[in-house]
Amino acid sequence: MTNSAVTATALRVARGGREVLRDVGFAIPRGSVTGLLGPSGCGKTTLLRAVVGVQAITGGAVEVLGRPAGHTALRHKIGYATQNPAVYADLTVAECLRYFAAVLGAGDVDQVLRDVDLLDHADHLVGTLSGGQRGRASLAVALLGSPELLVLDEPTVGLDPVLREDLWTLFHRLAATGTTLIVSSHVMDEAARCDRLLFLRDGRVLADDTPAGLRAETGEQDLEQAFLHLVRSAA
Ligand SMILES: Nc1ncnc2c1ncn2[C@@H]1O[C@H](COP(=O)(O)OP(=O)(O)O)[C@@H](O)[C@H]1O
Ligand SMILES: [Mg+2]
Repeated sequence: MTNSAVTATALRVARGGREVLRDVGFAIPRGSVTGLLGPSGCGKTTLLRAVVGVQAITGGAVEVLGRPAGHTALRHKIGYATQNPAVYADLTVAECLRYFAAVLGAGDVDQVLRDVDLLDHADHLVGTLSGGQRGRASLAVALLGSPELLVLDEPTVGLDPVLREDLWTLFHRLAATGTTLIVSSHVMDEAARCDRLLFLRDGRVLADDTPAGLRAETGEQDLEQAFLHLVRSAA
């Protein structure tokens, strides 16, 4: 078995008649936190959809946990939190989690609510939560059943710094137990928190490396500057 949780090879995706992922290749090691970083519209969500197996691709291949992306055997091994929270407004947080746990046939509702710091909001209607709380409820759904791969699309956007800090601690705690995480963000300030970085720009991979590797390659300490350096040298 390969040590990579996810590999993409010459991946191409067209959406709306336009190529939005072009010749994308990368390898994501198991038990790591990989940041998928790049500006809005660069293709992050499309790439995550391809990993989860819900995106039609026009070329290349994506392999996840040793299977082609989208394989039915992967269904219970992947947790996916979409960019827009996918939780029901007219259920309480606990009802919503219990519903998804029943669908999955697995999952410790109290544990995942504790993980995302929502235990004290368990009896609140999802519709009354703030945007950040709703995002965390959606993240809790993705954590149910302890999936081997967590695909999180901009999970920390709009959260206060203390909560963001807590979530990054959670991400690394999960990775330490062998879970593989892919976490997207359009802001660079979280790059240094990742074990590995996948820089995406205009549908192409600019870099697939560790923060230390990128600093060494570009001579820039600041990872946003490293990104800019790579953009300039690719031009
Ligand atoms: N449903 C869609 N139909 C057509 N084009 C889309 C659709 N969703 C996204 N796109 C386009 O694909 C490109 C990548 O989008 P996306 O993957 O959402 O980027 P990101 O998540 O990095 O903001 C953008 O140019 C966007 O306009
Ligand atoms: Mg997106």
